Amino acid sequence: MTVDALTALPPGPRMPSALQTAIWFGNAQWMLRQCAARFGDTFRLRILNEGTWVVLSHPDHVKQVFTGDPRVYHAGEGNQILLPVLGEHSVLLLDESTHLEQRKLLLPPLHGKRMERYSELMAQIAGAEIESWPRDEPYRLRPRMQALTLEIILRAVFGLAEGERLLRLRAELRRLLDMVTNPRMMIFPALLGPQRLVRMKLFQRDIARMDGPIYEEIAERGRASDLAERDDILSLLLQARHEDGTPMSDVELRDELLTLLVAGHETTATALAWAVERLIRHPEKLDRLTEETRAGETEYLDAVVTETLRLRPVISVVARRLTEPVEIGGWELPAGVTVTPSIYLVHRRPDVYPEPERFLPERFIDNPPGTYTWIPFGGGVRRCLGGAFAQFEMRVVLAELVRRLRLEPVRAEPEPVKRRAITETPRHNTEVIIK
Ligand code: HEM
Repeated sequence: MTVDALTALPPGPRMPSALQTAIWFGNAQWMLRQCAARFGDTFRLRILNEGTWVVLSHPDHVKQVFTGDPRVYHAGEGNQILLPVLGEHSVLLLDESTHLEQRKLLLPPLHGKRMERYSELMAQIAGAEIESWPRDEPYRLRPRMQALTLEIILRAVFGLAEGERLLRLRAELRRLLDMVTNPRMMIFPALLGPQRLVRMKLFQRDIARMDGPIYEEIAERGRASDLAERDDILSLLLQARHEDGTPMSDVELRDELLTLLVAGHETTATALAWAVERLIRHPEKLDRLTEETRAGETEYLDAVVTETLRLRPVISVVARRLTEPVEIGGWELPAGVTVTPSIYLVHRRPDVYPEPERFLPERFIDNPPGTYTWIPFGGGVRRCLGGAFAQFEMRVVLAELVRRLRLEPVRAEPEPVKRRAITETPRHNTEVIIK
């Protein structure tokens, strides 16, 4: 390493930042591929409103970031655009001690060991949804996967039963989620700044319409005589205690419930849409999955979920803003720079994954994914809180699907990747013919 390299940022495209930003939002994965081919493991991008990004794709560098001091690697700062919707207590928006405090409250209800309890509820919701799909005509599955994951969150996370409040909340949340994931709507917080948007009357009214039924549910659940026996995440959070022994406030509960919904709904739906998109283009793998699942085996099902999240990660990068200078890979990065471990590039390293572009669930059989080489859920103290929930849900839904239906693609070519807000989705929304 030369002395020069130790004082400079890594190389990157020379085009103006406006153009880099436009390309990033148009086709992030293409940009990552091009830059990695030209500049190697580590390169610099300039993204408007974000400043300098240093993209990382070497597992050692990823490990350094994920195990680094949370006071140095801030993640919440970069998510402030979501403040108007999620609220100031959201675990996604906080850093350091306040972040850790909220995270500790959320961890136990989302722990992998608890997931079995949702199995029956998830299977029942998935079964009813799947049975309603039309046969023998082109049908787009991604919107249906969204309806399905929303329903699962409303029932398992909020613990809502059938009834008028479920109907109201479902409609209000659908409206809000469409707004959050619509790139045109996200321009408002980008232009006005999240703080100003929060103070706008029109916006406050919109949020209040959705908050009404959420606060009603929180109040009613708090009084429920069977609270201690209930399994849903809201009921568990109502019984959680801060370190000083105080319960979570209603506003904290509301902010975290919405965070789980916004972080967990579209992501899981997209991952499921990709699993089907890949499987129907590999009929022999779909056959194997169907046979083994019908025989009650789960090994291949697990491998399909793991490989889908590797080959078609829903999110391409995670971000940490540096609060002080850090040396990574021989580069002396100044405070203020954002380091972005690239999920997409790490998952495509041929030294870790031979033939990285191929859909090969078999690669994970008897070979568990590595902590710093399989990172669809990010890592360290910011690792996705819903990782176990999402993978469990994917398994249950895919199992119900292959048990009940035979799916075929509408066209032979793979669906290209299309960016929607921050998720990378199948361009044709996983178009299938159901037999
Ligand atoms: C396949 C589905 C999902 C994917 C691909 C995904 C991916 C991610 C990623 C990449 C992060 C950022 C991690 C980092 O910065 O290191 C994250 C954070 C988070 N996810 Fe997920 N997620 C999924 C499903 C879910 C679900 C179902 C929930 C809730 C039930 C959820 C809740 C969260 C929360 C609360 C955070 C913030 C954690 C923190 O800042 O401490 N996610 N997710």
